[in-house]
Amino acid sequence: MIMNFETTKDVVIPQDPFERIIGQPEAVAIAKMVPHQRRHLLLVGPPGTGKSMIAQAIASVLTTPRYEVSVLDNSENPERPIVQIRDDDQIKKDEKEKKTETKIGVEVSPFDVPTFVSERFGFRCRRCAALSPFTEPTCPQCGAAKAQKNMFERFNLPPQGNLPPMEGDRMRVATTRRDISGKEEVIIYDRTIDGKIIMLKQDEVKKLEKMIEEENRKKKRRILVPLKRPTFVQASGGSETELLGDIRHDPYGGHPNLGTSPYMRVVPGAVHEAHEGVLFIDELSTLGDIQRHILTAMQEKQFTIVGRNPMSSGAAVRVEGMPCEFIFVGACNINDLKSIVPPLRSRIRGDGYEVLMNAYMDDNKENEDRLVQFIAQEIVKDGKIPHANRAAVNLVVDEARNIARKIDNVKGFTLRLRNLSGILKMAGDMAKTNKKEFIEKKDVEKAIKESKPIEEKVREKYGSWWAAEAADFGTKSERAGPETA
Ligand SMILES: Nc1ncnc2c1ncn2[C@@H]1O[C@H](COP(=O)(O)OP(=O)(O)O)[C@@H](O)[C@H]1O
Ligand SMILES: [Mg+2]
Repeated sequence: MIMNFETTKDVVIPQDPFERIIGQPEAVAIAKMVPHQRRHLLLVGPPGTGKSMIAQAIASVLTTPRYEVSVLDNSENPERPIVQIRDDDQIKKDEKEKKTETKIGVEVSPFDVPTFVSERFGFRCRRCAALSPFTEPTCPQCGAAKAQKNMFERFNLPPQGNLPPMEGDRMRVATTRRDISGKEEVIIYDRTIDGKIIMLKQDEVKKLEKMIEEENRKKKRRILVPLKRPTFVQASGGSETELLGDIRHDPYGGHPNLGTSPYMRVVPGAVHEAHEGVLFIDELSTLGDIQRHILTAMQEKQFTIVGRNPMSSGAAVRVEGMPCEFIFVGACNINDLKSIVPPLRSRIRGDGYEVLMNAYMDDNKENEDRLVQFIAQEIVKDGKIPHANRAAVNLVVDEARNIARKIDNVKGFTLRLRNLSGILKMAGDMAKTNKKEFIEKKDVEKAIKESKPIEEKVREKYGSWWAAEAADFGTKSERAGPETA
């Protein structure tokens, strides 16, 4: 050991996430090139050797995302929501416009408009002329049905109280009147969806229309990939929809007035959320054929969101042009390499790197120091366990030698560090329970013993697996045999 320390408290932990990855200099050298060149990466090797750590380190040096991705309602074809990509400036500009919206026209009360207008708008009863809210289908005064058609009548439903009318219920009536000089002018009355009446001159109508359109456009937005988001996105092999996105089912089939509009039901996948970031897929081989979709996403840099359940109302919806420009980092064990589809591998090789992780490193002073750094890192990262004294550290280092010998049959230090980390945390928990200031040698000894896999413990205790099984069933011989193993 070159490093000088009493306890792991004295050990300096590097700030740079790449520097924290020990024993993998080749992998780290390549990983450092990935973010700037925007390459892809396949990490192959045993569990717990730092594959996830490398993917996270790459994500941590990426610049923060510049674009937000949202879908807008497509009023002409709701099942084809429109993708909109905005940068920070555009988002701010849109927000500002929303605030400085100028008032168009003058608001007037139902009393102040010509009778036929208030009748048409549903405020005034045609029979008794009493005024009432336009949302009431019948006159509260005389009980006559008002001319106003509401959504309930339109869809043949019983009225259900004063539900707000739908957006399409904005109404407009044109009238003429003479101004002071006797010239005829056109006055337009516009009833908003919340029941206000706006009086407009003819030249104001266009302005109003534009404003309504803008308002609708703004309102009918669903942000799928926000501007402020992590650059590290991990997807497990489990679900296709989690990876590629989906359209949620709507029992009303996205009915314009009863259901949830298709654009509101769009769910982005991990490929979309990783836009401008890292998409990390652990155990890549478990994806099977879905790997081909990842290849498509990598090539096209965009991936259409569709409803993935053919029985769902979402199946009719498509969102084209969803961007997904990610750095792909895949991980798998050596054994599973054969289950990675060849075109994906060749794509990664052509546009990135394949890296084999080390399972162990040479037993020398320098590497011993790296192990000490690792031990200190793990303790600090855990945050709940005390630091380790030198004797404890030495024993963990010895255990790194043991594991290398036992698993890989080599003389060296293991880099299957998740195992080692588990022992350390167990030792830490014991030290903490016993209110010790530091993890001591004894704690590590106990933890090593405890952390042995069950199989190994069974063998030690019963001599063999079969003997243990027999003991378990209490039948010594009958059930014990290869067929039950
Ligand atoms: N090379 C390494 N250097 C430092 N710590 C490591 C290394 N490999 C694994 N670890 C520790 O083990 C944990 C699990 O490692 P991880 O990166 O998830 O391994 P993998 O993805 O290869 O299964 C990490 O969070 C870290 O604490
Ligand atoms: Mg991992």
